[in-house]
Amino acid sequence: MKKGIILAGGLGKRLWPITLTISKQLLPVFDKPLIYYSLTTLMLSNIKDILIITKEKDQRNYKNLLSDGSQWGINISYKIQNQPNGIPEAFILGEKFIGDSDVALILGDNIFYGSSFSDILQKTILNFKKPTIFLFNINNPSEYGVAEFNNDKLIKIIEKPKNFISNWAVTGLYFYPNQVIEVAKSLNPSTRGELEISDINNYYINSNNIEYIKLNRGFAWMDAGNSKSLLEASNFVQTVEERQGLKISCPEEIAFRMNFIDKKQLENLIDKIEHLEYSNYLKKIIE
Ligand code: G1P
Repeated sequence: MKKGIILAGGLGKRLWPITLTISKQLLPVFDKPLIYYSLTTLMLSNIKDILIITKEKDQRNYKNLLSDGSQWGINISYKIQNQPNGIPEAFILGEKFIGDSDVALILGDNIFYGSSFSDILQKTILNFKKPTIFLFNINNPSEYGVAEFNNDKLIKIIEKPKNFISNWAVTGLYFYPNQVIEVAKSLNPSTRGELEISDINNYYINSNNIEYIKLNRGFAWMDAGNSKSLLEASNFVQTVEERQGLKISCPEEIAFRMNFIDKKQLENLIDKIEHLEYSNYLKKIIE
């Protein structure tokens, strides 16, 4: 799996009025823009070919922030989603980009953090045979897609259930075979007027062709979809980073550690950074 899509469209309604002028995934989570967290999750999966889907009016800002990715040894391209028609539309809009490859999709407001996460991601991709979703135990799962089990067998995913199903929320990171493009094209909009990613996952559950990975204790998964969760995510990142002296989801560091760029290239990046604390951090990484 060499291709990954970040979906950074949507209206950000739950962050109104902040999102009237700024795209949600550009908002800060402590010391960096929200989209850095999903971007680096793909980088840690060893995915270097990345499509970022945004609204038309926001695309320029994303290009200013991330350009073509070459500074970090990756290749970023861009596509526009003007109407929030749902997550699966990413595969339809991204059809040409995906080509005949398998594809990872991550939602641009999702944040993953945990020990050995990159190992899990890389191993999953290396042994990739079936569509794979990641589940996270959550206190109030009603805002998410929720997994229903019969013992250990995943039998259904219910999108934003009104009644309690289980504590296992479906996170916004998905690995699919190329055929997902055709599955996405065959979907009908739900009652909320969107194509639903849960319908794709249920399609694969019904054909007995899905793997799930439970992200257990010791993992953190957050989405920064409203002002409360955005602040909580910021506080979390600050607490961990300041305690450890290590940054979460720093693309320059991850590009270097993944060998996407060499020492010389990192030094060139550092020379251009005018934020002393950030550049000093990267200098420490080289040492
Ligand atoms: C979407 C998906 C949902 C998933 C969530 C993860 O929800 O529909 O299944 O659990 O992302 O962030 P939405 O952001 O559309 O409310």
